[in-house]
Amino acid sequence: MSSDYLIKLENVTKEFSGKKGRVKALEDINLEIKRGEFVVIVGPSGAGKTTLLNIMAGMDRPTKGRVIFSGRDYGDLDEEELAKLRREKFGFIFQFFNLIDSLTVVENVIAPALPSDLPIREISARAEELLAGMKLLSKKYRFPKELSAGEQQRVAIARAMITKPEVLFCDEPTAQLDEEMTEKVLNDLIEINRAGTTVILATASETVANKLRRSGARTIHIEYGKITSTETPRRS
Ligand SMILES: Nc1ncnc2c1ncn2[C@@H]1O[C@H](COP(=O)(O)OP(=O)(O)O)[C@@H](O)[C@H]1O
Ligand SMILES: [Mg+2]
Repeated sequence: MSSDYLIKLENVTKEFSGKKGRVKALEDINLEIKRGEFVVIVGPSGAGKTTLLNIMAGMDRPTKGRVIFSGRDYGDLDEEELAKLRREKFGFIFQFFNLIDSLTVVENVIAPALPSDLPIREISARAEELLAGMKLLSKKYRFPKELSAGEQQRVAIARAMITKPEVLFCDEPTAQLDEEMTEKVLNDLIEINRAGTTVILATASETVANKLRRSGARTIHIEYGKITSTETPRRS
C-alpha cells in the first residue's frame, strides 16, 4: 500500500520549557510532503524552522500531534528504531557544515555509510563519484579547514548523499556562504532533487526562497511557530 505523501504532520505542537516558562516553538502544524518534492520552509530567526525540521526528521518528539513517514508513525518507534530510520532514509546538511576536522574530505564523505552492509570498495567508489560531481575530487585528501566555506558545504552535501537518502534535510545551508557559493549549493540541491531525492530546506532568506520557488519548489512561510502562507508551484 503506498500513500501519496512521504511525510505527514498532524496537529503538531512543540513546546520547550525555558527560563521564562514554556515556549511554543510550533503550534498546530499540519503538513503533507510528497515524495520527490522540494519544500522550502522560510521564516525569520526564531520562527520554528529548525524545530520543524528536527520533528520531521525524528530527531525531536512533538509535544502534541503525530508525524508519519512513509506510513510509519514516529510515535510507534523507540529511539533506536528512529535512529535507524534516520541513518537509512535521511541525509542532513547544516549551516556550519559539521564536517569532522580530523578526517580528510573523502573520509568525511564515506563516514555515514560505514554502518551499512555495503562493501567499502563500493562506498569509496560512490564517494569519488559524488566528489567528482561536485568538482572536488582533486581535494579528496585535503582537510575541511583547507577548503573554502562553499567547498566545505559541498563536501557536506556529498557526505549527506553517500547513503542515498530518500529525504535530504537542509537547515540554513547557505547562511554562511557568499552569493556565488550560495548559487552553487542551491544548484546542487536542485539537481539532487531532480534526480529523485525529496529535499526539505529551511532558510531565513527570502532571496534563497525565491530562487528555489522559481525552480519549482513549494515555499511555506512560518512565523511564531505557525504556517502563515504556502506557495505551490504549478505542476508541469
Ligand atoms: N531546546 C530548546 N529549548 C528551549 N527553547 C527552544 C529550544 N529550541 C528552540 N527553542 C525556541 O523555540 C523557538 C523556535 O526556535 P527554532 O526552531 O530554533 O527557530 P528557527 O530555526 O526558525 O530560528 C525559539 O523561540 C527558540 O528560542
Ligand atoms: Mg534554525
